[in-house]
This record gives sequence, structure tokens and C-alpha cells, in this order.
Amino acid sequence: MNFQALIRARYSVRAYKPDPVDEDKLARILEAARLAPTAANRQPVRVMVIPTKGREKEMARIYSREWFVQAPLVLCVCALPSEAWVRKADGWNAAEVDAAIVMAHIVLAAAEEGLGTCWIAAFDPAAARDVLGLPPEVIPSAFTPLGIPADTAAPKKRRPLADLVRQDHW
Ligand SMILES: Cc1cc2nc3c(=O)[nH]c(=O)nc-3n(C[C@H](O)[C@H](O)[C@H](O)COP(=O)(O)O)c2cc1C
Repeated sequence: MNFQALIRARYSVRAYKPDPVDEDKLARILEAARLAPTAANRQPVRVMVIPTKGREKEMARIYSREWFVQAPLVLCVCALPSEAWVRKADGWNAAEVDAAIVMAHIVLAAAEEGLGTCWIAAFDPAAARDVLGLPPEVIPSAFTPLGIPADTAAPKKRRPLADLVRQDHW
């Protein structure tokens, strides 16, 4: 799929089949995550691959929608501020932006493989720490199920381009 087709094909999948994710597909998705750009190439990101089978109840503490654990896998993209680039001018830390770029690579790479994802930020961070055993310095940035879609895309609702783009000045 070319890039223009891919960004139109990807959508937030909120129903999944229980079928397993092909190992080769998962490997290509994780490689896309690995190749994401990060500030100063610090790569302060880790991707957790979590099988859901048998852990449904525990995982539901993190995000309680039933479709969260329908897919065979959940991915958690974690940021490590202690490893990230920090802007000298004001101390801004790039870790969570880097993690977001990794997640963007993951959702697009998954769509290319015919797999569904849904970027999830509305999870319970304390439950995520507890269930996944995250050390204090690790920030759970985003979750997504990864599996075969069992729903279909709705038409994309987006602002018109004129709302998005400012020419020359604000
Ligand atoms: C940073 C971020 C956080 C999101 N958090 C959630 C979430 O917690 N739950 C959810 O169902 N969708 C979540 N989404 C998905 C958005 O609702 C979705 O991307 C948006 O409505 C556009 O629809 P589309 O992805 O199908 O094009 C999130 C997306 C982003 C980028």
C-alpha cells in the first residue's frame, strides 16, 4: 500500500477477532517501531508486547472496554524521560513525543499488514504500572490492541484543510 492509501485505510479499530497475529507481521510492525525517529536519536522508548489470553481480567483494570482484550495482543509504548533528549532553553523533555512517534509508526505498520489498532490514552496509569510491573521511571504512554479487525471503518471526520494550515503567519 502506498503512503496515501495507508493513511486513509488506517482507522481506530474497536472490535477484534481472537485469531493469532502472524509472527512475521508482528516482527515487521516492531521493526517499524524501532526505525521511528526520536529527538537526538536517543530512542528513549520501549514497546511491551502483552498476550491477552488468560489475562483479560487483569488487563481490564488498565482499560475497561471489552474490545481492549478481544485481540490476542496488546502493545504498550513506554517512555523513559531519563534517557530522552532535553531542550536546553527550557528543560522540555522529548520522551513522550518520541513515544508518540513510535506509536504512529506502529499503527500505520499494522494497517499495512491488514491488522487493527486503536491508540488508547484514556487508560488508568496506576493500574498499568501495577499490572505490568513498570518501574517508577517508566511512563506508560499509549496502549493499543493488535489483531484482526472485526469492524469496518467509518468515514473520516476531519476539519477542512483551511482550518489546519496557517499561511505565513497565525
Ligand atoms: C493521543 C490519542 C489518544 C487516543 N485515546 C483513545 C482512547 O483512549 N480510547 C479510544 O477509544 N480512542 C482513542 N483514540 C483514538 C481517536 O479517538 C481516533 O484516532 C480519532 O477519533 C480519529 O479516528 P480514526 O483513528 O478512526 O481515524 C486516541 C487517539 C490518539 C491519537
